[in-house]
Amino acid sequence: MTERALSFGSVASTYERFRPGYPDRLVDEVLAYAGTPVRTALEIGAGTGKATRVFAARGIEVTATEPDAAMLVELRKHVPSTVLTLQHAFEDLPVTRTYDLVFAAASMHWTEAERRWSRVASLLDRGGVFASFGGQLKIADPAVEEAVRAARSEHVPDDDVPSPDGTPEDSELQWPGTELARTGRFTDVRQTTIERRLVLSASDYVGHLATVSAYLQIPPAAREEVLGRVLAALPAEVALNGDLVLHLARLSEVT
Ligand SMILES: C[S@@+](CC[C@H](N)C(=O)[O-])C[C@H]1O[C@@H](n2cnc3c(N)ncnc32)[C@H](O)[C@@H]1O
Repeated sequence: MTERALSFGSVASTYERFRPGYPDRLVDEVLAYAGTPVRTALEIGAGTGKATRVFAARGIEVTATEPDAAMLVELRKHVPSTVLTLQHAFEDLPVTRTYDLVFAAASMHWTEAERRWSRVASLLDRGGVFASFGGQLKIADPAVEEAVRAARSEHVPDDDVPSPDGTPEDSELQWPGTELARTGRFTDVRQTTIERRLVLSASDYVGHLATVSAYLQIPPAAREEVLGRVLAALPAEVALNGDLVLHLARLSEVT
């Protein structure tokens, strides 16, 4: 696993404080797609449990897996006791049983490409559902966006996480829909956008940036400096587009 993939634990409590949660609408979409009752779910890279808790709230028995011990410590403070937690990277997770649903929130792109989909397939019941979702917070006002870009450019020239298979940003079908469609192991690959708009105070937005992997890559002193510059460039309130892109697929009945 890369250092960047495991950078979040150093800021686990900040992550929990400043990252937005996931809306119930997203769970509604997943359950409607499944079409039959979802009783069990395996979560990949559960972090501090922001997605875990919205699925567990529907009575689903969630097994939350996460490689980073510090993230798991935070997660255990926020999820019900019905959630089973396991400290494992996706690649090392023992395949001892299957689930109705396997899901990943802003984590699938950190997993190794090799055997990614055969592993997901081996963890799903026949006809079981895979869901992957996420979306970076983007500044809505282009003038503010430009001011922030200038303020961070010396230390953080680019804060995007690149598409793992190189799918261009303007392609209709985004990753991992592209890979899911290519594997031949899944049917009915779908991509849906769930609108999420937020307004954060300037300091809360900077708190959020302090949990973004591109910022976690730079030395703490430089991070402090760049976050200070970004704060100075922001208005008191920052309007954000945090739309979530949800990918869904069903494990083929035929293997
Ligand atoms: C951006 S965070 C998302 C956390 C949480 N799912 C959420 O939506 O808030 C990415 C998470 O993926 C985890 N991760 C990194 N590499 C992983 C891997 N190979 N297998 C599983 N999880 C991984 C990180 O430790 C981190 O908790």
